Amino acid sequence: MISEKIVKALNDQIAAEMYSHYLYLAMAAYFHDENLPGFGSWMKIQAAEEMSHAMKIYDHIIERGGRVALQKIDAPPAKWDSPLAAFENAYKHECEISSKINNIVDLAIAEKDHATNVFLHWFVDEQVEEEANALEIVNHMKLLGESKGGLLMLDRNLAKRE
Ligand code: FEO
Repeated sequence: MISEKIVKALNDQIAAEMYSHYLYLAMAAYFHDENLPGFGSWMKIQAAEEMSHAMKIYDHIIERGGRVALQKIDAPPAKWDSPLAAFENAYKHECEISSKINNIVDLAIAEKDHATNVFLHWFVDEQVEEEANALEIVNHMKLLGESKGGLLMLDRNLAKRE
């Protein structure tokens, strides 16, 4: 049996993952508007991953006999000062998501909910990758500086993400 406290925390996390989905879709639209279709495509794939994260949690709640309660999703920003600013935002956002996941792991341990604790290990690992991916692109963009050619080359590389 899953406790109401854990169900509430997991429902909050569904909302956080759905917001991530929305945020990355907004970034994809921004990048397409900036004529950077590779960046846009990368972000659309990231947005789809976030939806799958939300659904994993959704399924876990149901499987454990809890009640999924969907929440309102805030509108994300529509534009950023620069492509670098957007990716810096993505990196900061992933760090915040990691912290939310860690808090639910702490709660699962406190509630002695071993099933949720083990379930969340996948998310703990995933967050290491999510932070690293965003940070790598931020650092790459910083190295490129003002180079438009470099930005276009990076755009072509990001278009390869499947
Ligand atoms: Fe679902 Fe990017 O964390």
